Amino acid sequence: MKKITKAIIPAAGLGTRVLPASKAVPKEMLNIVDKPAIQYLVEEAAAAGITDILIITNRGKEVIENHFDYAYELEANLKANPSKKEIYEQVHSIADLANIYYIRQKETKGLGHAILQAESFVGNEPFAVLYGDDVIISEEPVVGQLIRAYEKYGKSSVGVNLCTREQIKKYCTLDVTPLDGRIMDCHKIIEKPEEHEIMSLYAILGRNVLEPEIFQLIKDTPPNPKSGEVYLTDALSYLAEHGRLTAVDFEGKRYDMGDKLGIMQANCEVALKHPEIGSAFREYLKQLAETL
Ligand code: UTP
Repeated sequence: MKKITKAIIPAAGLGTRVLPASKAVPKEMLNIVDKPAIQYLVEEAAAAGITDILIITNRGKEVIENHFDYAYELEANLKANPSKKEIYEQVHSIADLANIYYIRQKETKGLGHAILQAESFVGNEPFAVLYGDDVIISEEPVVGQLIRAYEKYGKSSVGVNLCTREQIKKYCTLDVTPLDGRIMDCHKIIEKPEEHEIMSLYAILGRNVLEPEIFQLIKDTPPNPKSGEVYLTDALSYLAEHGRLTAVDFEGKRYDMGDKLGIMQANCEVALKHPEIGSAFREYLKQLAETL
């Protein structure tokens, strides 16, 4: 079985839910305490053994490329100051996390269409997908949890978690049966279900491991008549209905960085554990909570 070494990060969305913050700064570059969201994703992929990452961008997202490059003037400055050694090393090492490639999705036509841009990068290999605005903090990288399921069952796999009925109606619902531990067989997926269509409270959240057959399935998917977007869910549902998809109820805390509340939750929870500001922030929160 081919080892999974490639990942793609679709980051070409318009980020309308977090405007005006995302007007000039891509939402994938919005920070959680002191790191932009997309750095968490690249670190997660690298920790799972991914060596090559394709980031799907569009116009106005050049700052993402700068973030994963050396910043000569800044770094020379930090390097010259012995008291800044630690931050110099942190800043410098970002550029060496993985080989990072970029391609533009010239029109914002949905997640399925974004993934299609990765076809020549991926070739005939299985690969991981990390949605650019879904940060997941976990002991074992979630991509690694999915790769284990892929290696065990030889099928594409989607990362899922239990959600509320309200969330399910905004995301999707899966028909699943247990296989082994946190791994389930997935038989069907319905995007944005009506109340009576809900099959389970599991929804796909931000991570997949896919076989390259997905590209043809996406090409066969007509754009949604209402939005004009090509959804990935349709192609995933085809895999499910043909016995070629597992779902992993991943261990980890997921934050939706494409949502204002999600950004605040991520910042609060990560700040509480941050080695530099954690205890001061805890004190501040306690005092604030007393006034609420
Ligand atoms: P979302 O649907 O959450 O992103 O897509 P969006 O379109 O930016 O969201 P709104 O405008 O706030 O509703 C999930 C991921 O897929 C990427 C996004 O950048 C995000 O990381 N995406 C989405 C693309 O790369 N291309 C697209 O055409 C759509």
